[in-house]
Amino acid sequence: MRILVVGGGGREHAIVWKLAQSRHADRIYCAPGNAGINELAECINLKPNDIDGLANFAAMQKVELTVVGPEAPLIAGIVDRFEARGLPIFGPATDPSRLEGSKIFAKDLMFKYNIPTAEYWPCDTPEAAHQAVKDYFAKHKETGEKLVVKADGPAAGKGVIISCCEEDAHKTVDDLMVRRIFGSAGERIALEECLEGEEASIMAFTDGEKVVPMPPSQDHKRIFDNDMGPNTGGMGAYSPVPAAPPHVVQEAMDRVIQPAVAAIRDLGIPYKGCLYAGIMITKDGIKTLEFNSRFGDPETQVILPLLKTDLVEIMDAVINCGLDSIDIEWREEAALTVVASSGGYPGEYATGKLIEGLDKTVQSEDCMVFHAGTRMQNGQILTDGGRVLAVTGLGRDIPSAIARAYAGMRNIHFEGMHYRQDIGKKAIKRTE
Ligand code: AMP
Ligand code: GLY
Repeated sequence: MRILVVGGGGREHAIVWKLAQSRHADRIYCAPGNAGINELAECINLKPNDIDGLANFAAMQKVELTVVGPEAPLIAGIVDRFEARGLPIFGPATDPSRLEGSKIFAKDLMFKYNIPTAEYWPCDTPEAAHQAVKDYFAKHKETGEKLVVKADGPAAGKGVIISCCEEDAHKTVDDLMVRRIFGSAGERIALEECLEGEEASIMAFTDGEKVVPMPPSQDHKRIFDNDMGPNTGGMGAYSPVPAAPPHVVQEAMDRVIQPAVAAIRDLGIPYKGCLYAGIMITKDGIKTLEFNSRFGDPETQVILPLLKTDLVEIMDAVINCGLDSIDIEWREEAALTVVASSGGYPGEYATGKLIEGLDKTVQSEDCMVFHAGTRMQNGQILTDGGRVLAVTGLGRDIPSAIARAYAGMRNIHFEGMHYRQDIGKKAIKRTE
């Protein structure tokens, strides 16, 4: 079977790596890919948002499975356009992708279907938003509660801003709605009550009817150790998550994922693909922070190495509504990934730095390097993005996965390289 993967980050490298192990995979293409993916797949020079270009390529090369990594092409309608041309594709159609594409759509749906989530106030104009900010802080004067301000549209993971005081919140409203720092994503915003607790990422495969959870994982969003500094795309992850034992995952399935899949089905077009729920485990039970209509990054770099079942067979079952007939099996181990980023990320950073030592980290069943922002030039691998690569380690428990991942990372160097030293520490603390 010929397969096309859309995207070029660490998540897509992990997807390509897993697909390449399938007995059904004859040839894998990746658009645009990166230097690591290039070793497993034929990278083609097409952008993820060039939907017509990708569909033409898939038709010409007789691609039988296309897998979409990032959210932008999903929200822009890649699945509908491929399906209209009879090209099999893994991912939700435009309509169900609104679960990620519009925070207000997702919140409205959660309230309508009783899916646990924080209280929220959708705002269509800056005036309405400023009034809602005033009301919120007047009501919470005594307790000093923080307020979460969210751009309605996708803003490359940066559209959620937590305000500690009223002044901050008013400024954020203006940044989003008036100054439009994230463009049209800030046309509408949602204000949200701020939740406290530990976060977990619950991803599930679904064919629109049947839903099969993957093991839970936990992302590390801040750039520095001890969750300090600004938010990033994600600096590391691990699985399983001591804070999300099986009963919490079951609760997330019963109260969040299954009802969301059923709600989308009721709206007309079933959700097919990977559904990701970010949850907060609070003292009052779980609450949904967000939905993503795709695999998480870097969560995928720990989840797919734990998957024993052939990923092509799972994706084929999702597309053809046959998840019922397949058993999905997981390695009973821990996996942990550490992301190395360019100096300055998530702010400005330089690219084109030589990456050394990649050959010293031997790829094995228990250690793998997934490239993100890398490119090959004159036989050398150079940095080419904010998040550069991730090293995943597997082991019988989190401490041994930590040891493997960091041992692999310590061989690798580039100018300005940064990675967190504390990935997985929360898990260890909780099990002590
Ligand atoms: P998102 O961009 O939707 O993935 O959200 C980014 C991050 O914002 C989440 O992972 C949480 O850490 C944080 N967040 C979102 N909503 C809330 C909330 N209601 N309370 C506290 N933190 C939140
Ligand atoms: N790791 C968070 C995300 O993929 O959105």
